[in-house]
Amino acid sequence: MCGIVGYVGPKSTVDVLLSGLRRLEYRGYDSAGISVITGTGLETRKKAGKLDNLIAEITAHPLAPANIGIGHTRWATHGAPTDGNAHPHLGGTREKLSLIHNGIIENFSELKAELLTDGTRFASDTDSEVAAHLIAREYDKSGDLVLAFRNVVNRLHGAFTILVVHEDQPDVVLAARRNAPLVIGLGDGENFLGSDVAAFVEHTKRAISVGQDEIVILRSNSVEVIGFDGSPVTSEEFTVDWDAAAASKGGWPSFMAKEIADQPQAVADTLMGRIDSDGQVRIAELESFTADEIKNIDRIVIVACGTAAYVGDVIKYGIEKWSRIPVQVELSHEFRYRDPVVTKNTLIVAISQSGETMDTLMATRYARELGAKVLAICNTQGATLPRESDATIYTHAGPEVAVASTKALVAQITAGYLLGLYLAEVRGATPVRELHRLGRELLKVPALVSDVIENLVQVRELGNDLANAKSVLFLGRNVGFPVAMEGALKLKELAYIHAEGFAAGELKHGPIALIEEGQPVIVIVPSLRDSDSLHPKVISNIQEIRARGAKVIAIAEEGDTEVGQWSEHVIFVPQTEQLFAAILTVIPLQAFAMALAEAKGLDVDQPRNLAKSVTVE
Ligand code: G6P
Repeated sequence: MCGIVGYVGPKSTVDVLLSGLRRLEYRGYDSAGISVITGTGLETRKKAGKLDNLIAEITAHPLAPANIGIGHTRWATHGAPTDGNAHPHLGGTREKLSLIHNGIIENFSELKAELLTDGTRFASDTDSEVAAHLIAREYDKSGDLVLAFRNVVNRLHGAFTILVVHEDQPDVVLAARRNAPLVIGLGDGENFLGSDVAAFVEHTKRAISVGQDEIVILRSNSVEVIGFDGSPVTSEEFTVDWDAAAASKGGWPSFMAKEIADQPQAVADTLMGRIDSDGQVRIAELESFTADEIKNIDRIVIVACGTAAYVGDVIKYGIEKWSRIPVQVELSHEFRYRDPVVTKNTLIVAISQSGETMDTLMATRYARELGAKVLAICNTQGATLPRESDATIYTHAGPEVAVASTKALVAQITAGYLLGLYLAEVRGATPVRELHRLGRELLKVPALVSDVIENLVQVRELGNDLANAKSVLFLGRNVGFPVAMEGALKLKELAYIHAEGFAAGELKHGPIALIEEGQPVIVIVPSLRDSDSLHPKVISNIQEIRARGAKVIAIAEEGDTEVGQWSEHVIFVPQTEQLFAAILTVIPLQAFAMALAEAKGLDVDQPRNLAKSVTVE
């Protein structure tokens, strides 16, 4: 689950590689390295720690100009994050070949044993170095780099994207992809490779996504794609719709701060063109499903991980209510390995910002094998998940760089609600007039998100006040329940504080035992306005915990005159539909976790031990 970048062309290769790695650093930041081929041959610099350490190393030991190179940012799997285990790895006794790898080579022990018998000496503990030596050895035999590369990748088991350059062939980068992402960027007299389009979007928006078991032969003026068996492959070009500037901090102190502020746009862009002025939802991407197919769906299973799974828990309420299709939400890794009941009438909805989360990919592959249709909700063009799904609703949140997901989440909830309204209308499950009213209300949400973001000062102060808290609990009901769990996840990820989210109704069945004097509890309070509102029940829950010493911070709707009597602090969000409130109430929780992490002096964009896109199971 590392980031990889490759380049051939006239620009400063070191600059192209380093800026590509900067954009991919979210994929891993244990160590980083680059190799370039200069006039005097192959040169490599690599360093443990974040990319800045590598940049300092290159500043101290500059590299000569080069027109070709590869770069890597690592999230350690095999071998500790040391300088030696950092990629690239060199192959052969004369160390003319350089290789970078994302993934895991499962049969590396037997391949390593074979090389050790041959007398090969290893400089690292990684599985990746094995591939470097094997390719170098094959090349020394045949002098044909593509053949050597192809022979070796055919011998590897597991998941990998591998990039190779060789000093004797200074005009070509070779790449192979199996179960790990790889995208080609097409330039004018230059070409790029990256784990995702963010690696090169500042240089070109023309891209090709590389398929399973394909090899890329990349030169400055040509791009050839072949299968692992050597047969030619025809690939389709697409245009990247991300704005390059969107992947930079743009004056914000962190990507996370910027991405929180980007949320009104993320919701607006995800709605754009999908609801007409009457409020009717139209999703062009769903036209590949016929009305009969939609009517025949008898169950929806949402598969996702992390924040995306909490999105599933939120949208379940709306999809079930409007479409009357039973919805079940499953963590992808649990779903995949428990022999679930899946039929051709099951619709799998796979939610993933990156489209590369291996657990989610494995779950969707399995569901398709069982005959189900898969609909992806994804933020990244050219990613694996959309390629392997029957249809995709893209969220238009733009590139999300901070590891903790913020704007992708609100865009995913928006897409999920669009899906629910669309299915409901096709199936005639809710009166059209009501669905269109909801559609028109949804169009107002971006402005409400802006209001929330403009009023986060109080939340930031609270974050400072609670910086020494040992634990924080979160409570919610209905869509407030998954919002509470997401709030707790954010706090764990960013501030390393123990936090848990509970269904407020469950409080009396156990969690209330945790409440003692001064325990901070954040409560997501539902609207007071609806006739069937759960407001009185949540107020009772607040009273129960207050009576036992809890310090209550409420997130409530403007106009709620009751909640203030029972809470130390109230953070108000604008009025909206009961179900849409999840998009608003989650935002103060993001800001709270960020403020608390900042007060503790932590890196909010790159929390310890985490990577944004987990491409191993
Ligand atoms: C990782 C990230 C989370 C993210 C999850 C799912 O665990 O740290 O922030 O929610 O992966 O990622 P996806 O790209 O599939 O949405």
